[in-house]
Amino acid sequence: MKISKKDWIFIAIVAAVIITFVAISGEEKTKQVPMDSQHAPAYELMKKTGSKMEVDKTCPSCHYEPGGIPFPPKHPVKPKDGPMRCLFCHKLKLAGMTEK
Ligand code: HEC
Ligand code: HEC
Repeated sequence: MKISKKDWIFIAIVAAVIITFVAISGEEKTKQVPMDSQHAPAYELMKKTGSKMEVDKTCPSCHYEPGGIPFPPKHPVKPKDGPMRCLFCHKLKLAGMTEK
């Protein structure tokens, strides 16, 4: 069977959908900010200010090294690398906050 130009377009669309799906599911693996007593103030501040950058500033008060809650050895960024955008990777468990 000869694969026509139309078939190739269909194959390309299917491939794009699969790639997008894999990319999204990969991102979802990063742990979300737990909804517990430690993180309740972050959720409150998010509701109050609506600003992820404001909330980001509060994370290193507990998550810092040495002395605070350590990061995994392979953590992509550390606070000493500069200002941290924690919520860029670790999403809040809020409606509408799981993407972007
Ligand atoms: C008051 C201290 C405190 C603050 C502030 C704080 N955390 Fe945490 N965080 C903890 C503690 C303690 C743990 C480990 C126990 C737990 O899961 O609550 C933790 C665990 C985590 C985990 C791992 C969860 C898991 O499933 O293993 C993530 C991700 C995280 N914090 C992200 C953040 C982000 C992002 C911020 C800023 C919005 C933040 N934390 C602010 C205390 C804090
Ligand atoms: C560039 C993306 C990125 C940023 C920015 C980032 N993290 Fe992470 N973080 C990860 C990845 C990836 C892991 C390892 C996979 C996982 O367990 O989610 C991780 C793991 C963690 C863990 C351990 C989770 C566990 O397994 O118990 C904590 C705690 C954590 N990050 C906190 C933070 C805090 C606090 C900030 C901001 C100061 C931050 N992260 C910024 C990507 C990021």
